[in-house]
Amino acid sequence: MKPIKVALLGCGTVGTQVVRLLDEQADDLAARVGAPVELAGIAVRRPDRHRDVPKHLLTADAAGLVTSDVDVVVEVIGGIEPVRTLLLDALRGGKSVVSANKALLAESAGELFAAADESGADLYFEAAVAGAIPLLRPLRESLAGDRITRVMGIVNGTTNYILSAMDETGANYGETLEEASRLGYAEADPTADVDGYDAASKAAILASIAFHTRVTAGDVYREGISAVTSADVAAARTLGRTIKLLAICERVDDSVAVRVHPAMIPRSHPLASVNGAFNAVFVEAEAAGQLMFYGQGAGGAPTASAVLGDLVAVARNRVHGGRGPRESAYAALEVRPVGQVETRYHLSLDVADKAGVLASVAAVFAEHNVSIAAVRQEGRTDDASLVIVTHAAPDAALKSTVDKVAGLPAVREVVSVMRVEGEDS
Ligand code: NDP
Ligand code: HSE
Repeated sequence: MKPIKVALLGCGTVGTQVVRLLDEQADDLAARVGAPVELAGIAVRRPDRHRDVPKHLLTADAAGLVTSDVDVVVEVIGGIEPVRTLLLDALRGGKSVVSANKALLAESAGELFAAADESGADLYFEAAVAGAIPLLRPLRESLAGDRITRVMGIVNGTTNYILSAMDETGANYGETLEEASRLGYAEADPTADVDGYDAASKAAILASIAFHTRVTAGDVYREGISAVTSADVAAARTLGRTIKLLAICERVDDSVAVRVHPAMIPRSHPLASVNGAFNAVFVEAEAAGQLMFYGQGAGGAPTASAVLGDLVAVARNRVHGGRGPRESAYAALEVRPVGQVETRYHLSLDVADKAGVLASVAAVFAEHNVSIAAVRQEGRTDDASLVIVTHAAPDAALKSTVDKVAGLPAVREVVSVMRVEGEDS
């Protein structure tokens, strides 16, 4: 049987595990695909640094490898260029592509799918979102007959690792980030993780598939965790909540809203017990109801598992005929700005403990038509701490309220501002 020849682009945290699994499971993969799956070459930046893979396979000429006689290109380099050009060349040349690259898919999915359609090649990218968790295939295929209304979850392992450590042990932010990088969870530039860009790319991919609408990373409202302080974590703990970086994709009437930001959730919420580099995503669909997906969201071996799953799928299509799903963007829904989305805020203020302070703060909320759900004041000396949790209101109104409250003479400091999710509004 003619082998399926694979070009591997990149051999770092994920790529080395792809090479290992291809080697260790060669016989099983051949049986599952119906033909041997053979590595034809591995492109890296610095071939001399890779001593654990067969030397004759290594090359620094990724463009040459992509245009050589291969059937499938597996890309685990990351970033936009030169990868975008390499994958467009591969797809236009009829080679199926498997990629783990969320940054590229969230920016150029339309262009890549168009190139795949030109030649009839496959484009799969399960590993780009939530590591090992089978999530894109259920959305693209299993739920293709349903109407998805919401996708919400933890989709970045690095930030979840950091927030879990801050919550559990009071660990230092910087040291925990270094540990996440050492364990292979973080991106080559970890600011992509902590500033929320990685999660925003994943949210764009999830929203595009869930709502049959092309959503790019630039459409996603994004806040990372670099501004989350130990005071925020402590405030959440006092209230029986914890802080998670959430990606939330919602269908609102005939539009979609996609956002990534830290949020307080009750400790009783299922996402509160998702710790370390694990990810979990809730999907709500009209007929299916609620579904939950959970597993390892980052790391070499878990991600390689998703890559291999895609490789088997595209290799089977080569051997037996057929094609995987194409881009589905027919609904073309409008993307709604975050200011119009209903959210809830938790606010912790240092205020002077004297008559009229609470009334002056409450007046600002009333002026912006923001309803208060709960208020708690602590302290009887010069300084008091005032904690306010709101009902749901448009995010823009909540932001303006906080800005005006911060400027009140009685308010000494805004200690913590955090959105609240996972509770009745
Ligand atoms: P690494 O930084 O560990 O590896 C990147 C690899 O790409 C290296 O082997 C590097 O070569 C090679 N490379 C870089 N630039 C080029 C180039 N111009 N031409 C050829 N090769 C190049 O990254 P990861 O393995 O962690 O991540 C790879 C991809 O997988 C990214 O898109 C990432 O977002 C995604 N991903 C990662 C996960 C993880 O947990 N790590 C999880 C899910 C997805 P050299 O070694 O010689 O420098
Ligand atoms: N840097 C990413 C994360 C890798 O921490 O989730 C998995 O996509």
